[in-house]
Amino acid sequence: MGERRYSVVEAGSGAALELRERSGTAGPNVLEISQLYRNQGVFTYDPGFGATASCSSTITYIDGEQGILHYRGYPIEQLAEQSTFIEVAYLLLYGELPNPDELAEFDLAIRTHTMLNESFLRFFNGFHHDAHPMAMVSGVVACMSAFYHDSMNIQNARHRDIFAHRIIAKIPTIAAAAYKHSLGQPFVYPKNKLDYCSNLLHMFFSVPPAPYEIDPVAAQALDLLFILHADHEQNCSTSTVRFAGSSGTNPYSAISAGISALWGPAHGGANEAVINMLEEIGDRSRIRDYVDRAKDRNDPFRLMGFGHRVYKNYDPRAAIIRRMCHRLLEKLGASQDGPLFELALELEQIALKDEYFIEKNLYPNVDFYSGIIYRALGIPKSMFTVMFAIARTVGWVAHWREMVRDPESRIGRPRQLYIGPAQRDYVPVDRR
Ligand code: ACO
Repeated sequence: MGERRYSVVEAGSGAALELRERSGTAGPNVLEISQLYRNQGVFTYDPGFGATASCSSTITYIDGEQGILHYRGYPIEQLAEQSTFIEVAYLLLYGELPNPDELAEFDLAIRTHTMLNESFLRFFNGFHHDAHPMAMVSGVVACMSAFYHDSMNIQNARHRDIFAHRIIAKIPTIAAAAYKHSLGQPFVYPKNKLDYCSNLLHMFFSVPPAPYEIDPVAAQALDLLFILHADHEQNCSTSTVRFAGSSGTNPYSAISAGISALWGPAHGGANEAVINMLEEIGDRSRIRDYVDRAKDRNDPFRLMGFGHRVYKNYDPRAAIIRRMCHRLLEKLGASQDGPLFELALELEQIALKDEYFIEKNLYPNVDFYSGIIYRALGIPKSMFTVMFAIARTVGWVAHWREMVRDPESRIGRPRQLYIGPAQRDYVPVDRR
């Protein structure tokens, strides 16, 4: 970490002004502008925060040019190959890989906090059967703050740990309850002896009258997808969690805000949108039309699962998922998804060779293929973004904990460039 002064020339007056430049362990340096308004009377203007670092963080590093993603310094490829979601969760939360005892203790803490208070289950009955699961999940997670107010002192490290264990353990149970409600099937209670993803499959697909065999291939595939989705530094939903949390609100409310942000089609909702798009395209003969539509400035259609704010070369998660798609569809024999995957591969090839996509550095992102895997696992489209939310909860919690302990953190309060009417006098209604 280093620090130095950086001189820029003030527009207009031509006077030089000094900004502090800070460097981290990797990635571009940042200019500290927090005193700019006090000293110069101007704000910076950066809609979408494409050029603004909102905090310093030790959790995840992305190099969008090189297609690099690290969690706490470990390359995503190594974690995907050798780790498990629970171990990655520990790593993201606590900063280091656990030793065997730490891992066993953490795993046990998660396995033994999976049950929901029965009152939660009654909430679901208040939802209409066709309510979107994301609406149910964000609502029920916000309601958790009504149950655990005895352990929500955000300044208390033990309370923060209890919150982390509770939300990570219970979010699959909440997701499964939302799914079961949409099907009109009875809720299935978690089983502590099952690992995280096997338990999720059990709660999703078990029904009382028949035994359900958990397919280890499916559980492993889910585990890998969850590793890939666990964190992605200051993305829209994570920044939302930090932002909401910066007011000092309880962490369940902050996570609920993040779930809502994730729902949008430009973010976590893209996995559902990709499958809708592929189904709409339907046949390889129609791919060109859709690619042309995506390029047409007058058409709002975008190629779903393509493009990323940070990755301008390739999304390393997409490369891992594409390989996994090949293996999984082969192993599960999910023949109904073969044609959809073929269509996706062909669409990718056509877009990658197209001048428009090349020029704008648009590559498939993680969600271009994740929906195909979820479908092969029997998970319905409306649940795709919920699956993403389950995995990303770990990242949100890690960031929330970091934010709460960061001495530099302040309530999020951006400024604006006002372009509305200048002051004018009120005119009574009978004279308008
Ligand atoms: N199809 C066609 N054109 C695109 C696409 C796309 N998928 N994505 C970006 N572009 C074009 C834009 O129209 C813009 O063109 P212009 O320079 O002529 O105006 C240019 O590429 C730059 O795109 P922006 O929208 O400015 O990039 P931004 O960083 O704001 O948006 C985003 C990134 C939201 C991911 C965008 O690429 C998109 O909408 N993609 C489709 C949705 C999607 O897959 N989202 C999932 C993201 S990954 C995740 O959240 C897990």
